[in-house]
Amino acid sequence: MSWQGIMDFNRRAQFVLIYALFVVCITANYGVCELKANKSATLSVDASSQSGRKIPDTLFGIFFEEINHAGAGGIWAELVSNRGFEAGGQNTPSDFSPWTIIGDETTISVGTDRSSPFKRNPVALRVQSNCDADACPSTGVGVYNPGYWGMNLENGKGYKLILHVKSLDSVNISVSLTNSDGSQTLATTNIVASASDVSDWTKVQFELFPTGSATGGRLQLTTRKKGVFWLDQVSLVPMDTYMGHGFRKDLLSMVADLKPRFLRFPGGCYVEGERLWNAFRWTASVGPWEERPGHFGDVWNYWSDDGLGYFEFLQLAEDLGAAPVWVINNGVSHQDSVNTANIASWVKDALDSIEFARGSADSTWGSVRASMGHPEPFTLKYMAIGNEDCGKNYYTGNYLKFYSAIKNAYPDMNIITNCNALGTTLDHPADYYDFHTYTTASSMFSQKNVFNSAKRSGPKAFVSEYAVWQSDAGKGSLLASLAEAAFLIGLENNSDIVEMASYAPLFVNDNDRRWNPDAIVFNSSHVYGTPSYWMQHYFRESGGAILNPATIQSNSSSLAASAITWKNSDNSEFLKIKIVNFGNDTVNLKISVSGLSNSINEVDSFTTVLTSSNVMDENSFSNPTKVVPVQTPLTNANSQMDAVIQPHSITSFDLALAQTSYAADM
Ligand code: AHR
Repeated sequence: MSWQGIMDFNRRAQFVLIYALFVVCITANYGVCELKANKSATLSVDASSQSGRKIPDTLFGIFFEEINHAGAGGIWAELVSNRGFEAGGQNTPSDFSPWTIIGDETTISVGTDRSSPFKRNPVALRVQSNCDADACPSTGVGVYNPGYWGMNLENGKGYKLILHVKSLDSVNISVSLTNSDGSQTLATTNIVASASDVSDWTKVQFELFPTGSATGGRLQLTTRKKGVFWLDQVSLVPMDTYMGHGFRKDLLSMVADLKPRFLRFPGGCYVEGERLWNAFRWTASVGPWEERPGHFGDVWNYWSDDGLGYFEFLQLAEDLGAAPVWVINNGVSHQDSVNTANIASWVKDALDSIEFARGSADSTWGSVRASMGHPEPFTLKYMAIGNEDCGKNYYTGNYLKFYSAIKNAYPDMNIITNCNALGTTLDHPADYYDFHTYTTASSMFSQKNVFNSAKRSGPKAFVSEYAVWQSDAGKGSLLASLAEAAFLIGLENNSDIVEMASYAPLFVNDNDRRWNPDAIVFNSSHVYGTPSYWMQHYFRESGGAILNPATIQSNSSSLAASAITWKNSDNSEFLKIKIVNFGNDTVNLKISVSGLSNSINEVDSFTTVLTSSNVMDENSFSNPTKVVPVQTPLTNANSQMDAVIQPHSITSFDLALAQTSYAADM
């Protein structure tokens, strides 16, 4: 080949290579195309004190719904499922599962009857052993409870067992914690009592300390003595719970790490019910746990013993330092609506619920709260009237009755309507309007601007449910979290009108996925956060911080940015600049901060990046930290900085400020 020929060949080869790379770049779906020209951007932040605006303290919180076994079999640490034998309904005989018989038809008969000592939950379990001593299998006969897809029993930890027993004869019942098939006993004790001791219902309590561990463990009650005994309200709870208030510690520490400013509870659709008779009722969820009837939540289709009731939610909010947001049923379910003419007793029920939370310890309902161990009132200042009920029969009429009665008795209560006031004027008074959005990633990214044009007067917005869902989200993708982060940046920038926001749903027990995706995934023993959970960590400091104007100029339309000045618990101050890169280009970013009244301390400054090699990456039990924020020191921290922003990433720059630049309260 001639020299010219070699040159032509090289040029052709170069052309083919460049063309091939171009094709690779434009066909790559979500992969990163390294050889594409980078985008560039300039981010100007005005950090002067006169241009800052305080973000509402309440801006980012959490929404807890009893969905996906988030509460029963979730954050509520009770290990026994169907502890009162009520889940099969109050007509007997009934299904008492997941309780399971140990023994066969010749040795044991088990069924439910209505002999319980508890008026509101009359069903109890009748256990008849037909064998004696050597005629019984060596392991005995009886029943076991597998909990919610297996109990997590840990070596050396303490478990408190309470049960109610009755028999007309003497009893000898073994109570054991075992592994999943009962072949290994981890802890055991015996209830030995004469007939006179147990001829009436008797409450028995033990502490059990397993000498081994099992993640799929069970509680067994067995006997080798012929006779009949009854059981009711059988409870097994780890002795070590979050703040000693009955919540699973590992799950609650994930929530506490988000530093939520409010807790909206207990739903969602769960509040409404498919039918009204199956909706959550707060009065049935308070008082001694043994006396709560429990109920079947017919939207998410499972039974709840209601150990996690209205009181426990208020307690949880207090323990998290979060303002409780109580969503109450206004006589409207998915399928029925109470006529406004008949709504008075529902309104009274709402007023009673406020008295329960706020009334003095000698008031009718305040005294029930006090008897549960909280004589001091709870701080309840937010109530939502219904969930997603706007437009349903009687909603507005019912709402107005609730609104005027509550405001009349409690003028400081903030009332949240289900009717969206974005772009329209409400025909009824409200302090907040509820805004829910579940959408695709690109639509969520665009919605970062949705409140830009909102009216600046009238009720404030409460974005109480937001998430990217369906194919863009899978079971919790990086892609979803990027779009959500951009949306939250939009909320920060509009926080003069948007005062509260929460992701939904918060939790899923992996054994009962009713809704995808969710922020926190768990089973009986393990837990991990989805990228949407970790994304929320970028917004933990926003409530109560100062929003500094931030402007992006770029040839990329896939960026969103904001800047805040926030203070650590030790009073050290940071300028936090957040930038979301929703696109698949690397971005060369110039950051320019003006108006700082104090110098930047590079030693304490840091940057945090959330990204992954594939934008559809998810975390899982086998790889729980595949997509998590990575924090590194920011050695070039300065008011003028160059940074490379990775494709598909959320990046924050926390510039440590040498001294306080804002007055304590603005
Ligand atoms: O978050 C899941 C459900 O979505 C909520 O129960 C409901 O409010 C919404 O439709």
